[in-house]
This record gives sequence, C-alpha cells and structure tokens, in this order.
Amino acid sequence: MNAKFYSLHNEMQTNDAKCVLKEMVNTFHWTDFEYILDVGSGPGDVTFNVIRPLIGISSYIVGSDISDDLVKFANAHYSSDNLKFKKLDIESYDIWDNWKKESFDKIFSFYCLHWIQNIRQATVNIYNLLKPGGDILLVMLAKNPLYLLFKIMSRLHTWSAYLKDVENLRSPFQTSMSAVQDFTRILESVQFTEVSVVNKECKFTFSSTDSMLKLIFFFFFFFFLDAIQAVTPFLDKIPNNLHARFIEDLQNCIPQCSFTNVKEDGSWEVRYTLIVAKASKMNNH
Ligand SMILES: C[S@@+](CC[C@H](N)C(=O)[O-])C[C@H]1O[C@@H](n2cnc3c(N)ncnc32)[C@H](O)[C@@H]1O
Repeated sequence: MNAKFYSLHNEMQTNDAKCVLKEMVNTFHWTDFEYILDVGSGPGDVTFNVIRPLIGISSYIVGSDISDDLVKFANAHYSSDNLKFKKLDIESYDIWDNWKKESFDKIFSFYCLHWIQNIRQATVNIYNLLKPGGDILLVMLAKNPLYLLFKIMSRLHTWSAYLKDVENLRSPFQTSMSAVQDFTRILESVQFTEVSVVNKECKFTFSSTDSMLKLIFFFFFFFFLDAIQAVTPFLDKIPNNLHARFIEDLQNCIPQCSFTNVKEDGSWEVRYTLIVAKASKMNNH
C-alpha cells in the first residue's frame, strides 16, 4: 500500500474512526500516564489526528502495523514526543521478543482486523498486550467490499492470474450470518469481560466540491476508484502497461456489486457494515 496515497484518500475511514470514537469516548475511563496502542495504524494519520487529541499530555501512544514501509512513513510524518510507531503483526504467534505482555491501558484498532486471517490469535494477542483493568475498541468491516469486487474481477480471464490471492482479502466474518455473535464468542472465550459487539450500518457518498458540472460524473467516479486503489494490494503485481485496462475493468465491475449505487447526480453511494467491539480485561485486584 502506498502510504502517501492512502493517507490522501482515506476520508471514509477517518470519518468512521472520528464518528465511533465520538460516540464511545465517554464510555472509557481516562487517567493520566496511560499507554495506548493503535493496531494497524497504517500511515499514522488517524492515530495522530483522531486518537492523539483524546489522550492526556502525560499519556503515550504506540501506533503499530505489519508493514515496515508504513511504520517508517508514520514515524517520518506523524511521530511526536508522545507518539511512536512500531512493527507488529497482530495475528502472529511470535511477538513476545519485541512486545511486552500487559503494557497497554487501552487498545484501539480501526479498519485493520478485516484484513487478517486468524482473528482468534489477533484477539489473544490483544488480550495479552492489555493491562488488567484495560479496555479495547475494535472497529472493522463486517465484510470486505473489495473481496466481492476482486472476486468478480478474478473470474475474468485477463486478470485471474494476477488475482490468485483474492482469498487473502476475505474478512474473518465474510460469510458469517452472525458476525456479531461470532466475534462476541471469540472475545469471551479469551476471557474479555463487559463485551459489547454491535453492527453499525454506514453509507458514504464519494462526492466532489468541484463545480465543473460536465466533469462531475467523471470526477466522482475516479475519486471512488482512487479510494479503492489506495488499498488494493494487487496493482503492484500487475505490469504498468496493464494498469489502465485493469482500472477500466474494475470500474465496469463496480455496478455488479450490491454495495454500491450511482445516485442521480452521478456520485457513488457505498453501503457497508462495521463491527464495533468494546470489551475490558478483568482487574486482578
Ligand atoms: C486500511 S489500513 C487502516 C489504517 C488506519 N487504522 C485507518 O483507520 O486509516 C489497514 C492497516 O492494517 C494493517 N495490517 C494488516 N494486517 C495486519 C496485521 N496482521 N497486523 C498489523 N497490521 C496489519 C495494514 O498494513 C494497513 O496499514
């Protein structure tokens, strides 16, 4: 993922993180000198712009990501006295050489956990990283819309060879009829308490403030595709001379996806469901 590109086009994700945190911020108990972890912090802008303003000046945030490039980018652009970024694969069995158990008072994660395959191991790691008495807030997509889109693309002869890894985009709950219950069960089984998992139905319209009417449809379309390109891991694999054709086929497949529709003004409305999970770790005392 191109860090700069993603951070310029993650309007939808930033908006959701702000919105969920605004609703939930008062349900947390905030104190001084807290250590806070953001799992899957990507380029670091959401950690810096959305989470950091909530914490006290004596508290400290660690942003973490599986990607070396993103950790490097985030440290170069968004680190500060009380915010640093560090590599972490949250679903790995083997993180304890570089991470200490029971280090964090709060753990947040936005738009990350639908990318991973082993949600149970990620949950176990999050539990072990959390201090007793600590809280977590995890926000992920219930289904990954890109999986549906690339699944359609992978059936096209030209692209099937490049889209072999499409199954890696399956969210942990892609085919589940009861993601809320499934994730509640996982959180409870690793001993989290006060578990609350809910679905949040969301809509986002990709629109422009640009007033050149005749270009509106065009612009809306490409704005939406820009947002998709920001997270697609596949473009890197496709030869440069085929990129334009790939994008063209991608745009032709979008109307086949049930989660989008073109509005009368030419803008694209995208519908999606988030899983919002809050839970705590029992205090030892
Ligand atoms: C869509 S970005 C979200 C970035 C940011 N949290 C936001 O809300 O804009 C998802 C991030 O999760 C990271 N990620 C994917 N799998 C991961 C894993 N197993 N452990 C840690 N981070 C992971 C990706 O590298 C990517 O930076």
